[in-house]
Amino acid sequence: MAKTRSVYVCSECGAQSQQWLGRCPACGKFGTLAEEIAEAPAPQKAAKRERSSSLNRPVPLSQVHEEHFRRLSSGIAELDVVLGGGIVPGSLVLVGGDPGIGKSTLLTEVAAHLAKTQKVLYVSAEESCAQVKLRCARLGLGGSSLLLLNETCLEDIEEAITDETVVVIDSIQAVYTSALSSAAGSVGQVRECAGKLQRIAKGRGITFFIVGHVTKEGALAGPKVLEHIMDTVLYFEGEKEDNYKILRSYKNRFGSVQEVGVFEMTGEGLYGVSDYSGIFLSESRGEAAGCCVTPAETGNRCMMVELQTLLAKTAYGMPRRMPLGIDYNKLVVLIAVLEKRCGMPFYNRDVYLNAMGGIRLNEPAVDLAVCAALASAFRGQPIDRDTAVFGEVGLTGEARGVTFAEKRVNECVKMGFKRVVFPAKNFKSVKKFEDKIELVPVRYAGEAIKKLFPAARQAEQTEEGDSHERYEP
Ligand SMILES: Nc1ncnc2c1ncn2[C@@H]1O[C@H](COP(=O)(O)OP(=O)(O)O)[C@@H](O)[C@H]1O
Ligand SMILES: [Mg+2]
Repeated sequence: MAKTRSVYVCSECGAQSQQWLGRCPACGKFGTLAEEIAEAPAPQKAAKRERSSSLNRPVPLSQVHEEHFRRLSSGIAELDVVLGGGIVPGSLVLVGGDPGIGKSTLLTEVAAHLAKTQKVLYVSAEESCAQVKLRCARLGLGGSSLLLLNETCLEDIEEAITDETVVVIDSIQAVYTSALSSAAGSVGQVRECAGKLQRIAKGRGITFFIVGHVTKEGALAGPKVLEHIMDTVLYFEGEKEDNYKILRSYKNRFGSVQEVGVFEMTGEGLYGVSDYSGIFLSESRGEAAGCCVTPAETGNRCMMVELQTLLAKTAYGMPRRMPLGIDYNKLVVLIAVLEKRCGMPFYNRDVYLNAMGGIRLNEPAVDLAVCAALASAFRGQPIDRDTAVFGEVGLTGEARGVTFAEKRVNECVKMGFKRVVFPAKNFKSVKKFEDKIELVPVRYAGEAIKKLFPAARQAEQTEEGDSHERYEP
């Protein structure tokens, strides 16, 4: 076999080079060159073109052969939900996440469960077979017919795959193809290996679960090189120390991308948390100032999540802003809105914010709850434990309507909340809950704060600076 030739291609401008360079000579960007296999020689390409033109012809939609695929259950209900109802045969599923979060644990459980009825191969490129066996024993898994392979060369893995239903690759960064000379885990290697696995998956109808580590920048193996190849991309989120891990779907060709699965990590393995109500709320809710509960929408589910804030006097010049669970820039913007529109100065206070249970809230509907929590911390007055808040906040301080208002209020009712503060724009869609919960529609963030802390309930103001308060929409 003729040796494949490789070239280095700039991911920014597409310029090619015969050797690796730190800086692209064409566009001048640093570190953008990645190794790729050079185009096949001309005669081969011509032969391929002739054959494919004779096989593939356009067909009318009505004559397209329908594939009736049956989804397989992974054995873990939460994972099935995130996958959109189970495993689709011949699909590529990427499971990403920080090291140590539980990717191998989850996929070992899935593989062992499926091995009871299907032929399943677990390719462990990072751990030895004995280590995988040890984990299976610790997790108390059966599935003794599960096939294990400790291999890192993709060509050898390809040879070992026969007629399996499911193959797990743990992890893509540890696998290399001998067609490229760059190190395993580099952008070129990861892209080439994933492409090869995709061809096997589609050609033979094998489902691949591929583990991908998240790089320091938070992307999977560089600038999202893997995501477009995959059918489904799942990320494991949560702090390593937290017991609750959240599996989130970022891309799914066979289901909703808003789905979230909640898992609990124990010594005996990962357990799907089916009763997730209340796990993102604290026991002492309503006692301390600076906390606010919001109904967060995550796909088909709505969960009540508590946001906790803490203000501390700034010791050195620049005040710190430290959000966990929401975007840093969002917090900075909302603080600016509170300063400018509601007259609450934060320039001399460090702001810490935490979404309980390690959940990440990316939707704009948490804005109003963040403002309410900050106002509560600022005033030193707790928000009533049975009050929930949701809504987006604009730069003018207005409370803007959000999606799924009905579902959110319904969750508040279900969880026994007595009052909900939300944007007036959403009033029409939730009016039917009037007799079940006190509805408080507001037009401005300032109005929400006024309603949450009426003058009559104002506590003794202890902190200096609180006298600056001015609440006007
Ligand atoms: N013997 C053990 N007892 C309890 N928990 C363990 C044990 N070994 C590993 N774990 C848990 O499993 C996690 C590692 O999971 P793993 O699936 O290997 O992560 P990943 O593959 O995502 O790097 C550890 O963070 C730890 O919490
Ligand atoms: Mg692992």
